[in-house]
Amino acid sequence: MNVGIIGSGTMGSGIAQVAATSGCQVKLYDTNQAALDKSKAALEKVLTRLVEKGRIDSAEKTRIQSHITYINSLKDLGDSNLTIEAIVENIEIKKAVFSELETYMADDAIIASNTSSLSIASIASALKRPERCIGIHFFNPAPLMKLVEVIPAIQTSEAVLKQATQIISDWKKTVAVAKDTPGFIVNRVARPFYGEALRIYEEGIADFATIDWSMKTIGKFRMGPFELMDFIGNDVNYTVTETVFTAFYFDPRYKPSFTQKRFSEAGYLGRKSGKGYYDYSEGAVKVEPHTNETLGQAICDRILVMLINEAADALFLNIASAVDIDNAMTKGVNYPKGLLEWADEKGIAWCVEQLDALYDSYHEDRYRCSPLLRKMSALNLKFH
Ligand code: NAI
Repeated sequence: MNVGIIGSGTMGSGIAQVAATSGCQVKLYDTNQAALDKSKAALEKVLTRLVEKGRIDSAEKTRIQSHITYINSLKDLGDSNLTIEAIVENIEIKKAVFSELETYMADDAIIASNTSSLSIASIASALKRPERCIGIHFFNPAPLMKLVEVIPAIQTSEAVLKQATQIISDWKKTVAVAKDTPGFIVNRVARPFYGEALRIYEEGIADFATIDWSMKTIGKFRMGPFELMDFIGNDVNYTVTETVFTAFYFDPRYKPSFTQKRFSEAGYLGRKSGKGYYDYSEGAVKVEPHTNETLGQAICDRILVMLINEAADALFLNIASAVDIDNAMTKGVNYPKGLLEWADEKGIAWCVEQLDALYDSYHEDRYRCSPLLRKMSALNLKFH
């Protein structure tokens, strides 16, 4: 199969590696020659490391490399059966590229976008045959992260959804099909992991280190919310929250935090700037958490129940199936357990009780319990 990739940055390069590893002939296109050179050099480095670790042999390395051609003319993507775009997150630029690309491609070729935040329906509208357009959303780093969200637009044909799902499964990825709504599954359902942690801090309930400790030690998450925000970058994480908030017509549930905005404005971006919620400079003193089990449990329960509420509401609104919502969080962001599975384990009645208690104290819409949880609790049902 011939695969075209547009944009040889972080995501495009990773997706090209995935497709080439699965035996596809890949053409990787970028307008910037330096980006193409960098991508080629980065692949050489990654594959050399895999050979050193014994994960692949050098013949396999050569085979993968020989499957990728680096090109600087969009026209050369004309023979691709599937093209995935991973360029700058700008709707007008994406639409212009899609509309030109279509003039070179066969009528039955699929045109996909790796966008994280733009509407697939809007991108598809730039095409003469919008039914061939679909969202194929990888996670960073694409070769390592198991999850791929596949997002049909309202224009997308059933056949294209089926083909795209098959191709991505053939690439040994777990597909979660999501509705074309802001944040798809992961970037929507994960919001409270950051937002509620920031809120707990703002209320003075605990400091960053204690909240992180609670989520790691009690919740068994790989990273705490503040460590993770520092890792992602406060600027990037803040922008995603703000985009989701705006796209949801300012639903208070996704309201961004002033704390994070100020950290971002101050240049306290996290690891990449040497300082965020933690200090990453040489010799910095590590801040110790308050390891109080009762406090830690309360913090963890509050963030967890907000995540569960978000997952339940995504199911309620048919954003994805229960299985896909759980897979999305375990395979897209490495959660220790699927959120709906977790809800079953904790008990749906417990979730409703926790959310109602939060709502009773704050009277904020942010803490409204999903109607699905309430209904399931009344009927004594489980998600799985
Ligand atoms: P990046 O900045 O690393 O790479 C973008 C590349 O596109 C650059 O090499 C640039 O030269 C090239 N480019 C820009 N305009 C172009 C055009 N008109 N034609 C051809 N090439 C062009 O960006 P990154 O992080 O790889 O993101 C790309 C897309 O993937 C965005 O839509 C982003 O929202 C999405 N995405 C990003 C993730 C991430 O964690 N970075 C995760 C999932 C999706």
